[in-house]
Amino acid sequence: MAKDLAEALPPYRTKVVEPIPFLSAQERRRAMDDAGFNPFGLRADQVTIDLLSDSGTGATSAEQEAAAARSDESYAGARSWFRFRDEVADLTGYPHILPVHQGRAGERIVFGTLLKPGQICVSNTHFDTTHANVELAGAQAVDLPCPEALDLDEPAPFKGNIDLERLAEVLAGPDGHRVGLVLMTITNNGLGAQPVSMANLRAAAELARRHGVPFFLDAARFAENAWLITQREPDHHGRSPRDVATEAFGLADGCIASLKKDGLASIGAFIGLRDAELHARCEANLIATEGFSTYGGLAGHDLERLAQGLREVVEPAYLRSRAASTARLAAMINDAGVDTVQPAGIHALYLNAGRLLPHLQPHQFPGHALGCQLYLDGGIRCAEVGSLYLGTLDDQFRVVRPAPFELVRLAIPRRVYTDDHFRYVAAVISDIAKRAAEVPGYRIVSAPAILRPFKVRMAPVE
Ligand code: F0G
Repeated sequence: MAKDLAEALPPYRTKVVEPIPFLSAQERRRAMDDAGFNPFGLRADQVTIDLLSDSGTGATSAEQEAAAARSDESYAGARSWFRFRDEVADLTGYPHILPVHQGRAGERIVFGTLLKPGQICVSNTHFDTTHANVELAGAQAVDLPCPEALDLDEPAPFKGNIDLERLAEVLAGPDGHRVGLVLMTITNNGLGAQPVSMANLRAAAELARRHGVPFFLDAARFAENAWLITQREPDHHGRSPRDVATEAFGLADGCIASLKKDGLASIGAFIGLRDAELHARCEANLIATEGFSTYGGLAGHDLERLAQGLREVVEPAYLRSRAASTARLAAMINDAGVDTVQPAGIHALYLNAGRLLPHLQPHQFPGHALGCQLYLDGGIRCAEVGSLYLGTLDDQFRVVRPAPFELVRLAIPRRVYTDDHFRYVAAVISDIAKRAAEVPGYRIVSAPAILRPFKVRMAPVE
């Protein structure tokens, strides 16, 4: 017993703390009114537990802050850049590394350089900014998730995989010559935080190579994916997550990696490339739009935190305790009778709002309704992943084509919340489940033409 607990213990203790706000029910209701019932419109100091994103929201370590204090802020060729570059090159094996301020800047530079208008980018699932940057390059984003991913209750170990049969068909089919990139998102954030197996990565890489198509990783959660490979893929049991991550990077021609997640810092990303000519073209774009190629829009102290963060994030004790913590939260929520996408991933849990609130139809946005209720009842902030975000709406905001699922994402910041916070989150969800039929639906009051969730204003339908 003690041995099991010791194995799942976080390998750190708290040194610096930040107070969290507690508002009364009336204050929360007023805050939501002011925010147009959109959690993105809340002030962070109105939120008790913030599960909106795991991006840039983690806690840094004493070693990271010490490294930041030693940073070199020279414009070109700073010591901090070389430390960062060497760390990334050692982890990934890519000969060419470019720093960028966040993942989507890397997407814009790589897709703008690599993809031609009319080409296709095929993925297990594009993240939303990734999808947008493919389209901004004039190309088309095609998602080919594996069939198991569409069964939310199926506990298959690698529901982030790409559908290899369909990938082979697309590459060999009439549009095959238009495929300009195969991009694997690890872990698959757009589809339930599910991991991709090494076997699937290898097979997809081989297919792409056979057709002469570049194969890239969107490696925002490379360490969490590597950990799940060591736990769920028998050939890789007992391996170090760092080795597994290095092997995964080794299968690809390059990567874009937001480091706001597994870089354990609040800002930063990198592009990794094998091809010198592609590197030269991306570098020119980088210098024009992000900054010189030894800082790429980042401060030296950011590069230092990231270089140290990349060491800490692959420690087995850290990954084991983080995965166990998310799994315990999932178990508490499931015990309260609320279903989550199975199996639990690491960086987020997805509540099945459609099933919990069967009295609400997609046009009443059950995912959004559950998300709002979590805030109104408990000060918990999270994001809808359902028809508000992914559905097709007409210009009267009527749902023309609903999303396949009505979910709410609880994203888990790294090294921030404890089991006490999570017991509270589970209790709020449990109380909502007991009177689920009373949760009201929502209607859209106003919405922007693009990127709807961020600026939409909503109202409850009483
Ligand atoms: N790729 C994936 C898989 C992501 O999850 C994100 C960001 C990005 C790319 C873009 O990176 O934010 O550094 O520009 N995901 C955050 C989230 C925003 O909350 O899931 P970025």
